[in-house]
Amino acid sequence: MSTPVDATTTPAWTELTAAAATLQPNLREWFATDSGRVERFTHTLADLHVDLSKNLVNDEILGQLVALAEQTGVGERFAQMLEGVHINTTEDRAVLHTALRRPAGVSPALVVDGQDVDTDVHAVIDAMSAFAERVRSGEWTGITGKKVTHVVNIGIGGSDLGPVMVFEALKPYATAGIEARFVSNIDPTDMAQKTADLDPETTLFIVASKTFTTLETLTNARLARDWLWAGLIAAGAIDGTDAAKTDAVAHHFVAVSTALDKVAAFGIDTDNAFGFWDWVGGRYSVDSAIGLSLVISLGPDVFRDLLAGFHAVDVHVATTPLAENVPVLMGLLNVWYSNFLGAQSHAVLPYAQQLHRFPAYLQQLTMESNGKSVRWDGSPVTTDTGEVFWGEPGTNGQHAFYQLIHQGTRLIPADFIAFVNPAYPLEDGGRDVHGLFLANFLAQTKALAFGKTAEEVEAEGTTGALVAARTFPGNRPTTSIFAPALTPSVLGQLIALYEHITFTQGAIWGINSFDQWGVELGKQLALQIAPAIEGDAEALAAQDASTRGLLEYYAAHRS
Ligand code: F6P
Repeated sequence: MSTPVDATTTPAWTELTAAAATLQPNLREWFATDSGRVERFTHTLADLHVDLSKNLVNDEILGQLVALAEQTGVGERFAQMLEGVHINTTEDRAVLHTALRRPAGVSPALVVDGQDVDTDVHAVIDAMSAFAERVRSGEWTGITGKKVTHVVNIGIGGSDLGPVMVFEALKPYATAGIEARFVSNIDPTDMAQKTADLDPETTLFIVASKTFTTLETLTNARLARDWLWAGLIAAGAIDGTDAAKTDAVAHHFVAVSTALDKVAAFGIDTDNAFGFWDWVGGRYSVDSAIGLSLVISLGPDVFRDLLAGFHAVDVHVATTPLAENVPVLMGLLNVWYSNFLGAQSHAVLPYAQQLHRFPAYLQQLTMESNGKSVRWDGSPVTTDTGEVFWGEPGTNGQHAFYQLIHQGTRLIPADFIAFVNPAYPLEDGGRDVHGLFLANFLAQTKALAFGKTAEEVEAEGTTGALVAARTFPGNRPTTSIFAPALTPSVLGQLIALYEHITFTQGAIWGINSFDQWGVELGKQLALQIAPAIEGDAEALAAQDASTRGLLEYYAAHRS
């Protein structure tokens, strides 16, 4: 295992520390005195137009950040990932989500740990596509011969957030009259509400779980199976015999997992299971078989376009010098804000209602990846890691939390994402509504960067204490990501962009961005507490005073 470079001991870190101490950001002046700034700080990444010019950096600082990436070996670590080195040290695994979107027939073929990765990946994509076509065409039916109208993905974390985010984003591409739904929470409300109006005869469940051990997913899968059996029996579609029930599961359940033995143990025919591999992390798995609900609801061609978008960004990252490498630059800016300028969170503000689940998706991607206190060799980190990612689509966010971003005391770097052409071109009295929407995107980034001075406020006739209240300090950093339209390929590009931003930050901090031990303790304790909920006195007595008090409240108020 290699020892990570301690970023804080590099010459670049020293220079950046000094630069941060003397920095007096002035975007108004920087723009006024430097006519080439926007051109120098704007990049093209496949279909994405990425404007970094409204960030709180000058050329010198950006150069020092790039030097930091060089001195911490970001490029080398990326190459290791692509080659299949076991950079996920705590689980002794390769990290190969980039292999999921390599086109067929790339030479040389990728062989890792004796596995012909390309062949295996494409065999699964082909199998998913063939299965999806059967469902979409009506060749695959429910047990009573009816065409599937709803596909319900049961999964959580990476086995849910990616598929639901992509489905919401690409809904305009759904053509086969098959709606996808997503059940994730073990709160029974989720299953109850998502199945309330469904017909068991036309519903297909996908149990999506990398490990096929996740409590929430297996519990929900059993609830779904009971719901199916009860509905089919009530409709007179099957009798209650074990054979009929098994047949019903065969028609209405498929699975996606790396653990096909566990799929079989659940009662799902492994002929109806789609595999992936331990080198795909859960939060990096939307482009694996975990995307089956998307292949069915959106179609194989849309899924392949999505993969092509991912791949375009992978190629950019692998072949572009660090100083021009967009995900690397954006990762470096995040390091600049969080390690040198004191930012603790990062807003992602899509000006696209279709991306309303994108911030939630990014929360798992970034925070499960980089929320770590030890480095990949087990030693403590030497600086802060991981920002809190959050956001909502504009313009909803404008009427909620933008106040704090504009005039609050905290530094909150924000990424704005927008598309030139809308999925639904509607007009309001002859006026293009999408144009108005985009005007808001442009206005917000402008207001955040350049603010409004007291003099400008006074010039409008405002006086007294109101002047201060109506002043905007500006110099609030933003990145603008603009693309022609939210196509499947563009969405793949966006996801891959953030994957590699996350990678860059993890590499600089020297952490393993691919494990998630922090979710284990809560899972373990939930299993210990469950008997106490059910009234086990010994389990209750074993709890700490606060947990015991809460359990007693539960017992006293349970109806
Ligand atoms: O939250 C922990 C986690 O392991 C995630 O990394 C993963 O995406 C999720 O649980 C679901 O896991 P699985 O796909 O194995 O059910």
